[in-house]
Amino acid sequence: MIMTIDYLERIPNNVDLASNKRLQRALEQWQPGYLQWWKELGPSEAQTLEVYLRTAVSVDAQGWAHYGHVRMPDYRWGIFLAPPERDRRINFGVNKGQPAWQEVPGEQRATLRRLIVTQGDTEPASVEQQRHLGKTCPSLYDLRNLFQVNVEEGRHLWAMVYLLHAHFGRDGREEADAMLERHSGDADKPRLLGAFNEETPDWLSFFMFTFFTDRDGKYQLASLAESGFDPLSRSCRFMLTEEAHHMFVGESGVGRTIQRACEIMAEHKTDDVRKYGGIDLPTIQKYLNFHFSVSVDLFGQELSTNAANYYTMGLKGRFEETKIGDDHVLEHGFYDVSVLDDSGIRTIQVPALTALNERLRDDYIRDCQKGVDRWNRIIERHGIDYRLRLPHRAFHRAIGTFSEIKTDPDGRVISEAEWTRRHGEWLPTAEDRAYVQALMQPVTQPGKVASWIAPPAKGIDNKPVDFEYVRFV
Ligand SMILES: [Fe+2]
Ligand SMILES: [Fe+2]
Repeated sequence: MIMTIDYLERIPNNVDLASNKRLQRALEQWQPGYLQWWKELGPSEAQTLEVYLRTAVSVDAQGWAHYGHVRMPDYRWGIFLAPPERDRRINFGVNKGQPAWQEVPGEQRATLRRLIVTQGDTEPASVEQQRHLGKTCPSLYDLRNLFQVNVEEGRHLWAMVYLLHAHFGRDGREEADAMLERHSGDADKPRLLGAFNEETPDWLSFFMFTFFTDRDGKYQLASLAESGFDPLSRSCRFMLTEEAHHMFVGESGVGRTIQRACEIMAEHKTDDVRKYGGIDLPTIQKYLNFHFSVSVDLFGQELSTNAANYYTMGLKGRFEETKIGDDHVLEHGFYDVSVLDDSGIRTIQVPALTALNERLRDDYIRDCQKGVDRWNRIIERHGIDYRLRLPHRAFHRAIGTFSEIKTDPDGRVISEAEWTRRHGEWLPTAEDRAYVQALMQPVTQPGKVASWIAPPAKGIDNKPVDFEYVRFV
C-alpha cells in the first residue's frame, strides 16, 4: 500500500498522526521550538533562498525522491517510517523468534530511550556544526547538497523525536526538549558525542565529515534497523535511504578535491599544488587522518557489556544481522579484537558478545577502505605516485583502550615527546587549516566552481551541472 503524504498538514507523516490527537498536539507543541532552533542554529543566512531539494512525499521508490525549488523556511519536515514487514520477528538475542515489539517492553524502556536519544542528538548536532558553510560554497551545486544534508538531518531529529513522543510518555517529551537545548561545542550543554562537538569550519572538513562521520551514522542506523522494537527499525530503515546521499556528497566532494590536485600536478608538473590554488594530497591525507580517527571513536569501547546487553535484549543488532550465518545468540562464539598490553598492540580472541562494538567498527573500516580505494584510482589515473590510506585504528584515539597511548598512523606506539614533535606531520596544523580556510571563497554563479575543486561529473536529478540549484530571492 502506498500512503502519500499530505503536505498541507502541519506535520507531514505516514504514521496516521491525525488519528492520535494527543500525540499530534504534543508534536505540534514541540514544532515551534524546532523551527526556532532551525532559525537560530540551522544554516545561517539561508532564510531567503530557494533550494532545489529532494523532499520525501511518500516512502515508496517513486515518492521519496521528489524534487523542486523550496524556500528554505517553508521546508516541511515529516515523519516517515518504512512500510511494516508482515509478521516481523525479533531476529537475535534471548527473545529471538518472538514477534517484534510494537510497544516498548517495560524492562527495556530506559535502555531503549538512551539509544534513541544518543542517535537523535547527533542529527541536529551536525546541522549546527555545518551552519556557516553556506557562506563559502564552492558552487551552487555544492550549496544545494549542503542544504539537502541539513534538512534531512533535521528530519532525522524529527524521526527520533516522534519515537520519544509516541512511545516514552513524559520522559520522552523531556528528552525531545533537551535535544534542542544541547548544542554542538557548547561549554555547558554540549552534544553527547565528541565528534559532534568538533567544528566543521571548511568544505574539505564537511566532505570528510559526510564521508566518515555520516558513515558512522549508517552503521549505527543499520544496527538499530535490526532492532526488535519495530517502530525504531522502520524509522531507521527509511533514514538509511537518505543517509546514502550524505555519504555520496562526502565521497564525491573529496574525490573532486583530489581530482583537482591531480590536474594541477599533471598540468604544471609540480607537487606544489598550493601555488596554483589547490589542496595538495598530503593535506588531504591529514584531514582524512583526523576525521577517520574521531569517527572510529564513535563506535565506543572495544569490549562492552552495554553492547552485549543491547544485543541480548534484542534492541540493537549487528550490521546486516539476518545475513550472518550463525546462531544470532552468540553465547559461544569468539571474535578477534586488537588490544593494548605491556608488549604493545596485539590481537586476542574474546567472547563475540562482548566485542560487538569492535565488530561494527570493523565493518565500518572495511567500508571506509573501499571509498579510499576509489579515491586512489583517481590519483592512479593521473599517473601520480601517491596513495591515500586509512590510519591505524589506534591512531589519535580519545575513546577505548588506545586512548591511553600515542601512535603514528601505522599504529607504531610512540612517546608523548615524539607525538608532540611529529603530530603536525599527520594531522592538520593551524597553518594547514588557515590555508584551506583562505581558499573558501564563495562561488555562486551557476556552473562555476572554486579553484580548489573539480566540477561534479553530473548534476542532481538529471539536471545539468550549470542548473540554478539555488536561487537568491
Ligand atoms: Fe542523519
Ligand atoms: Fe547524515
